Amino acid sequence: MSGASGTPYAASVLRALLAAGESVDLVVSRASRLTLLDETGIAFRDAHWRDDLREWLTRGADGKPGAFDADLERVRYWPAGDLAAGPSSGSYPVKGMLIVPASTACVAGVALGLSKDLLQRAASVTLKERRPLVVAVRETPLGGQTLRHLVTLDDLGAVVVPTSPAFYAGATHIQDLVDFVAGRVLDAAGVEHRLYRRWEGELGGGGRTD
Ligand SMILES: Cc1cc2nc3c(=O)[nH]c(=O)nc-3n(C[C@H](O)[C@H](O)[C@H](O)COP(=O)(O)O)c2cc1C
Repeated sequence: MSGASGTPYAASVLRALLAAGESVDLVVSRASRLTLLDETGIAFRDAHWRDDLREWLTRGADGKPGAFDADLERVRYWPAGDLAAGPSSGSYPVKGMLIVPASTACVAGVALGLSKDLLQRAASVTLKERRPLVVAVRETPLGGQTLRHLVTLDDLGAVVVPTSPAFYAGATHIQDLVDFVAGRVLDAAGVEHRLYRRWEGELGGGGRTD
């Protein structure tokens, strides 16, 4: 997670990864702690990350408690300043990396290979190892610099997923819009999920219930 608005997207992706039986290496950038605090009221602490993560993931996008009950044993948390952490090496076994949400600063850092923290280093490693990298960028409007950096990332093989929900999937709650974006992130990574109703080729089917 980098420091763009959009922590509900990250929560939805995390919940779905765990529901799909995946293990997760979690990195939360320094700036992302600010957005998390701003958007959820949770002050994410390295020393108590499991408690803070559980509290966060049990809430929906509306801030109300939900029914999340996943096993956090499959989450490994790495402080963003720890450049000796596992994900900073290509020999650390991971399938790929999702940056959700991705700030424009993070997009620039990854496009330029800055590796200024563990998040950016892990992204550079993901690219050099030719593993899937999904970048869920959150900014509007997008400036020329960021657009150029996004093209660079695309050229390098990353999948850029704008955090822009579609409205054909019959959303009735904010969480539905969040889950649509999270679902498209997981689609790009090839992870199975049931986060949104897929388009099936019929107009006017906003109420599809299958
Ligand atoms: C509350 C808050 C919301 C922010 N939202 C965004 C955003 O949506 N997109 C973005 O690119 N930067 C946003 N920023 C600015 C980034 O946090 C800032 O550029 C930071 O340096 C990103 O660092 P990181 O990429 O290492 O996480 C926001 C900052 C704050 C405090």
